[in-house]
Amino acid sequence: MIENFEKPIYVTRPLLPPLENFTNRIEDVWKSQWITNNGQQHQILEKKLQNYLKVNNLSLINNGTIALQIALKALDLKGEVITTPFTFAATPHAISWNGLKPVFCDIDSETLNIDANKIEDLITEETSAILAVHVFGTPCDVEKIEKIAEKHDLKVIYDGAHAFGTEIDGTSIGNYGDMTMYSFHATKLFNTIEGGALVCNNIKLKEKIERLKNFGIKSKEEVVEVGTNGKMNEFQAAMGLEVLKEVEKERKKRKIIKDVYYNELDYIDGITFIPENEKVKSSQQYLVIRINKENFGLSRDEVYEKLKEYNVFSRKYFYPLCSNYPCYSDLKSSKKRKLAVANRVVNEVLSLPFYGDLGKIEVKKISKIIRSL
Ligand SMILES: Cc1ncc(COP(=O)(O)O)c(C=O)c1O
Repeated sequence: MIENFEKPIYVTRPLLPPLENFTNRIEDVWKSQWITNNGQQHQILEKKLQNYLKVNNLSLINNGTIALQIALKALDLKGEVITTPFTFAATPHAISWNGLKPVFCDIDSETLNIDANKIEDLITEETSAILAVHVFGTPCDVEKIEKIAEKHDLKVIYDGAHAFGTEIDGTSIGNYGDMTMYSFHATKLFNTIEGGALVCNNIKLKEKIERLKNFGIKSKEEVVEVGTNGKMNEFQAAMGLEVLKEVEKERKKRKIIKDVYYNELDYIDGITFIPENEKVKSSQQYLVIRINKENFGLSRDEVYEKLKEYNVFSRKYFYPLCSNYPCYSDLKSSKKRKLAVANRVVNEVLSLPFYGDLGKIEVKKISKIIRSL
């Protein structure tokens, strides 16, 4: 018999720096009397992240969702935006919130990212952009997407909420497309409590992003466009500077944990991991398995419920599918038969507990519970 965990094991845990480091930095903020609006912590973090992520033109934003909204606005999009239904609510919501129409495209059954082979069929006269998501940090088919965008004169925005530090052959994921959004929410590998960033490929665009995140203000007496409040404050930036020091250590710890999960579960009939590509440096954001009921014997939902009985809280990430939300289900592109892969996958995916301080013993026990089912 396997004993329950005494304390709950959650799917993730925020990466917290030593408290003293954070409070020292907050003392600096106090002394400066400058707590938001491009303060000193903000300026340092922006530069450090630009170097760390190997990108140009990075703008810090107060969260990933507002960053997406600003991205769509900055590119002056109209009409329809092709996107994936297998993502967090923020992706299609940012499109709708900007007065644009999301058009859902089915996903690739291996990578779980937008199926680049199905994008062209969805392009109409109204299409102005593709908003693709690097789901669980796995890069999209960036080359194919770029070719399609060039051919049809579309903008490309990547939702890189899960892809902090992901690289393809040494090239940062942030260097693809017209813009990439990062989320620095507490659940992400790198966090600023709440926060995010936009990376773009030219300085003019960055200037526009900087205006849009500051109410459209150009100078003290000029407000030149409809902006919003997307500013990151000094407490968020201070947190980010301290968390950044911990990120590589955390990534290494997660890699070890991932290897334990692979050793314990990879040979089980009906359980598969998202394939990894040798050329890709993983963000180590999530540890995701797929459960095939016929081969495993239990469905994803049954495994999820059983794990709870043992005090293990996994997550059905991303369930329900965005195209099945009441606000999107009436769209022509939301029809289930057109999104067959996404509608199947959304019932198979389970995100397991994954964070640096999760011990090997715990991982082995979680795996043993799953095997015992
Ligand atoms: C794929 C994806 N896009 C966007 C977001 C939104 O980011 P934020 O929580 O920083 O607003 C998330 C957050 O979890 C996400 O997972």
